Amino acid sequence: MNDRNPEISTVAHDDERRFDPALRPVRFADYIGQRDVREKLRVAVTAARKRGETLDHVLLSGPPGLGKTTLASIIAREMGVAIHTTSGPAIEKKGDLAGIVSGLEEGDVLFIDEIHRLSSVVEENLYPAMEDFHFDIVLGDGPHARSLKLELPRFTLVGATTRTGLLTSPLRARFGIIERLEFYATADLAEIILRSARLLDLTVDEAAAEEIAGRSRGTPRIANRLLRRVRDYMDVEGAELIDRELACWALEKLGIDSGGLDWLDRRYLDALVMKFDGGPVGVETLAAAIGEPSHSIEDVIEPFLIQQALIHRTPRGRVATPAAWSLLGVTPGAAPVSPLPLFEADDDA
Ligand code: ADE
Repeated sequence: MNDRNPEISTVAHDDERRFDPALRPVRFADYIGQRDVREKLRVAVTAARKRGETLDHVLLSGPPGLGKTTLASIIAREMGVAIHTTSGPAIEKKGDLAGIVSGLEEGDVLFIDEIHRLSSVVEENLYPAMEDFHFDIVLGDGPHARSLKLELPRFTLVGATTRTGLLTSPLRARFGIIERLEFYATADLAEIILRSARLLDLTVDEAAAEEIAGRSRGTPRIANRLLRRVRDYMDVEGAELIDRELACWALEKLGIDSGGLDWLDRRYLDALVMKFDGGPVGVETLAAAIGEPSHSIEDVIEPFLIQQALIHRTPRGRVATPAAWSLLGVTPGAAPVSPLPLFEADDDA
C-alpha cells in the first residue's frame, strides 16, 4: 500500500477524477507547454487530415501526470474521430483485444495506457492489427481448429508508457511517431494554474501561481491538485483571493517544500543518504528500506529527483549527489550509516 500523503499523491483519486476532465485542454491551441512535442503532433495530425489519411500509430512516454492521456484525446478531437480508452493490464486475454478492435471505426483512436503492461499473447495479437489491420481469430481447437481473418478498419493506436525502455523492440518498432514528454518549466505550470483557476472561478494572483508552480514537481496533475488543496485553505480561512502568502502558508501545511519535494521524496533521500551513506545502492534495497514498490520508485519518485540533480542512476545503483547531501544538511561521510550490512546493488541501472 502506498502511504504517500493522499493529499499530494501522484495517483489519481476521486477529487481528481471529478475535476481533471474539466481542466484538461481539448485542442492543441489550449495546450500549454511541451512545445516541441505539441508542434510535431500538430503537424502530423494536420498533414494526415489534409491527405485524408489515418494518423500513424503514436507512442507517448514520460512520467505520470504530464499529459499523455490529454494528448491522446486532443489527437482524436483534432482528427475528428472517436477515442476508445483502455490500459495494458485491462486487456487480459486475446478475446478482450478482439472485442476492443472489432468495435473500432475507420480512423478511430485506440488509446492504451500503460502499454508496457500488455501480456505477450495480447501484444503478439496486436502486431497484425497495427501493421495490416487484421486480427486472427481461431475457431475451435485441435485438428479441427480453423483460423479466421477479421479485417479491421484503419485506426490509430496511441500508446502511453512511463518509459519507452519498458517496451519490447517489436512493439516499439510498430509506432510511426514516438515522443517523450519532459517535466514542465515553472513558467508553463504557472500558466496552467492560472488557466485552471479561471475554469474553477478562483482568483489567484501571478505570484501565487508561480509559487504553486515551483512546488509542483514539473507536473500539471500535481499543479492542479495543489491548486485545489490551497483553495481548501482559502475557503476555510474565508479568504477571497489566493496570493503568495496564503499559497506559501497552505503549501507549508501540506508538507510541500519550496523545491516541490514531498514527504515521500524526503523519505527516499533520507534512506539513500542516512542508511546507505549516499549509495550506490540497488533500487530493490531502497524499496525495501522505504516500503514502496520499486516500480513506483522508478516511475514516480526518481525521474524528478534525477531531473533536479539530487540523485544519479549508475550501473552499481543509486547515488546521492552533493546537492542531496546539502539538502539534508549532512556532510558527505558524516551520515550515521545503517547498522545493517550494506547490500550489493541488485539492479543494473
Ligand atoms: N491542464 C493540465 N495540463 C494542461 C496543459 N498542458 N495545458 C493546459 N491545461 C492543462
